[in-house]
Amino acid sequence: MNVLILGSGGREHALAWKIKQSKQLEQLYVAPGNAGTAELAENLSLSPHDFDAVAEQVKDLNINLLLVGPEDPLVNGIVDYFKQKKGFEDLMVIGPAKEPAMLEGSKEFAKNFMAQFKVPTAAYQSFQKHRIEEGYKFLESLKPPYVLKADGLAAGKGVLIIKDLEEAKLALRSMLVEEQFGSASQNVVIEEFLDGIEMSVFVLTDGESYKILPEAKDYKRIGEADTGLNTGGMGAVSPVPFADQSLLDKIEQKIVKPSVAGIKERGFDYKGFLFIGLMIVEHEPYVIEYNVRMGDPETEVVMPRVKSDLLSHLIAAANGRLDSEKLEIDKEAATTVMLVSGGYPEAYEKGKVIKGLDEVADATIFHAGTKNEGEEVITNGGRVLAVTARGENYKAALEKSYRNVNRILFDQKYFRKDIGFDLMDAE
Ligand code: AMP
Ligand code: GLY
Repeated sequence: MNVLILGSGGREHALAWKIKQSKQLEQLYVAPGNAGTAELAENLSLSPHDFDAVAEQVKDLNINLLLVGPEDPLVNGIVDYFKQKKGFEDLMVIGPAKEPAMLEGSKEFAKNFMAQFKVPTAAYQSFQKHRIEEGYKFLESLKPPYVLKADGLAAGKGVLIIKDLEEAKLALRSMLVEEQFGSASQNVVIEEFLDGIEMSVFVLTDGESYKILPEAKDYKRIGEADTGLNTGGMGAVSPVPFADQSLLDKIEQKIVKPSVAGIKERGFDYKGFLFIGLMIVEHEPYVIEYNVRMGDPETEVVMPRVKSDLLSHLIAAANGRLDSEKLEIDKEAATTVMLVSGGYPEAYEKGKVIKGLDEVADATIFHAGTKNEGEEVITNGGRVLAVTARGENYKAALEKSYRNVNRILFDQKYFRKDIGFDLMDAE
């Protein structure tokens, strides 16, 4: 089996690392990949957005399974492209078709889906420019803080949470009238604020049956104690200590089952991952968002806990026989701490030489934004390396992650020192 993974982050490195362990694997390629994926696969210099170029490589390299890491190619229809293309009938593609990819690509589509299939979520309404006055009235009917979401993909920046009513109205105006997030905010979803604690679950589905992967919690803000700007994610832990069996059962019954049943009922072509972002309010789960891919850095703690053969599960999902697979999960905890470039998520410099990778012990480094330059590995993105470790519980794992964080050096390295800080009381 020859596999091509599209993407270049820590998520793709972790997926490649896991797939590399499969006995069914022959050749592994990552496009475009990074310095980490280059150690275990062949990187292809290829953009995941250029479907024709991807198709050419799929043919030339005899690829059997294409795993799409990020959401953009999915939202832009890469699955439909290969379904319709002559000569690619046997290619297995992991990811949803264009329509179900709107579960991530459009907040309104996702909210309507949740309403149709009675998946618990925050109360909401959506507004366009011509209904701005009604939008103001809806805001007046809600209690603060106010949650405003640009409908389309806005690189994780399209959600505003505002305490003051007048400010919320101004923000609605700037989203709808001034198109603050471009076309992504031509439509705005306003929703009720849910006051709780976040966690995520990850599902692999063939469109009918599903497997629930280990759950995780990530840390999105740049600053300690969850302050400052939102980032792609600064660290993650799995399992989530406060997610006891009764909560996990509720999540399966109230969220996962109706979501997958909805995918089936709508006739969606969905053979891939569904990432469900949840808010837990008084032990009850509500969906904050769907993503149609794995999370980053969540994948860097989820994959180390999957004991069974991921590639076998992916092949089964692609062929509609996931039901016959047995997913095995390791009880041990995994944690990851993200090392980022100083300045991120705003402007930052690239090209800093990374030292100390050889000194890492008892941890796995997943590369997020790196590349090789001559003999050296240099920084090539805001998020640079995910330092993953395992342990008997999250505290033991975190201790190892942080021990190794200190072994890796590059100019202007920054990381959060408090990953897991909010879990102490939750045990
Ligand atoms: P999203 O892009 O929908 O995941 O939203 C980004 C972040 O905004 C989430 O991770 C939550 O922290 C927060 N958020 C989104 N919707 C709500 C809500 N209804 N209530 C409280 N916080 C929310
Ligand atoms: N870590 C959040 C995401 O991947 O969207």
